[in-house]
Amino acid sequence: KLKIAVIGGGSSYTPELIEGFIKRAPELPVSEIYLVDVEQGREKLEIVGNLAKRMLDKAGLNISVHLTLDRREAISNADFVITQFRVGGIDARIRDEKIPLKYGVIGQETTGPGGFAKALRTIPVILDICRDIEELAPDAWLINFTNPSGIITETVIKHTGVKVLGLCNVPVNMVNYVAKAYGVEMDRVYIQFAGLNHLVWGLRVYLDGEDITQKLIEQLASDENMTMKNIPGMQWDKDLLKSLGVLPCPYHRYYYMKDTMLEEEKRKATHEGTRGEVVKKVERELFELYKDPKLDEKPPQLEKRGGALYSYTACNLISSIVNDKRDIQVVNVKNSGAILDLPEDAVVETNCVIDKNGAHSLSVGRLPAKIRGLIQVVKAYEELTIEAGVNGDYNAALQALTIHPLVPSAGIAKKILDDILAENREYLPQF
Ligand code: NAD
Ligand code: G6P
Ligand code: MN
Repeated sequence: KLKIAVIGGGSSYTPELIEGFIKRAPELPVSEIYLVDVEQGREKLEIVGNLAKRMLDKAGLNISVHLTLDRREAISNADFVITQFRVGGIDARIRDEKIPLKYGVIGQETTGPGGFAKALRTIPVILDICRDIEELAPDAWLINFTNPSGIITETVIKHTGVKVLGLCNVPVNMVNYVAKAYGVEMDRVYIQFAGLNHLVWGLRVYLDGEDITQKLIEQLASDENMTMKNIPGMQWDKDLLKSLGVLPCPYHRYYYMKDTMLEEEKRKATHEGTRGEVVKKVERELFELYKDPKLDEKPPQLEKRGGALYSYTACNLISSIVNDKRDIQVVNVKNSGAILDLPEDAVVETNCVIDKNGAHSLSVGRLPAKIRGLIQVVKAYEELTIEAGVNGDYNAALQALTIHPLVPSAGIAKKILDDILAENREYLPQF
């Protein structure tokens, strides 16, 4: 009988997670779900928590849902702690998106200076949560969704004793995309992934064991659908894809098509608002729906968010650990030599065998120069961001932003950094 604690339980995504547990009930014996939030999220927690209860009642499952602001009560003796919180809420995200734009730099929730700011706010909180886990549930698995997911997972591995696995829904959405393109079930598609969170490449794509990588790359050039709801599906350049020879993820557009993406962001910011501003409206609609006492399932409107299939990923992972399945899933884990071009203690997003002891990364070896160059600089950015976030180190912070591929100069890095520090003062106790 499993106890699950969900930190950031007031998220509008929670019904998706509950739906995941309902679908998996035959193989996942969950008895208690604790949804935890903070004072600012009290109302959201109440609304979404009551919907969760109605969903479980309808399914006839004997799972008790507890709504609490007491994180320690929730973590105590938990088997799995799922983190999906957003420090500073959506308004902090909107600021993250707007600060870089002021200086002509892409402003994005997880990629570039926006993701950097989110990491600085999140690191002190995740370290606090890990202290609680070390004390109250030392055997628990931490399943982290909180973005930037790779950076947060690496922080936990480097600075705590907690067992952690980092997740993202991008790889499974890429598999889903291929499956849809070929009209087959997802389990017939296998992609050999390697990279970092939101910078993951599909090195080889197989359908029923046959290598379809090149065919798929050609197809991608003429298809704008392979993206996430939060990323504009700007058309890929045919020659770029051909020269790359592997499958990029939707987030690669920010690196390979900086100029186009920046223009599109500026256009959107003036017409409909930044993605964070759009999400704020979508959330308001969602919570109005969730309040309806007759609603007892996940409403289709949730599909307007970027988190498609996130509960599928979480529940798949938890089930393989619990049932010692030894199947292959994509997880953010300690590199440990899987990618020889990256430090051994860096976190990478790669295919892993999942069993009751966790995730065991499958070796990729060395990456070709065209991938190695980008991945090494972004990993160094991530390492410096962690140093800055843990120690409040201004020098590390300035170097992190200066070397980031989306930031054009040290001068602009400094301006962005100073704005980030000033506008986030209340969330940055380490500085
Ligand atoms: P949200 O703004 O709804 O935040 C979720 C909840 O976290 C809110 O109810 C908020 O009150 C709460 N919260 C804030 N600070 C907290 C704290 N210190 N302790 C506990 N709860 C706290 O955000 P969302 O859109 O639901 O996203 C939640 C998180 O999940 C974000 O970090 C987002 O980037 C991430 N996310 C990741 C993936 C992925 O692929 N890894 C997918 C979707 C969302
Ligand atoms: C994708 C990413 C997540 C990200 C989300 C944003 O699913 O994998 O990491 O948080 O999109 O979606 P949103 O609807 O909040 O813009
Ligand atoms: Mn993600």
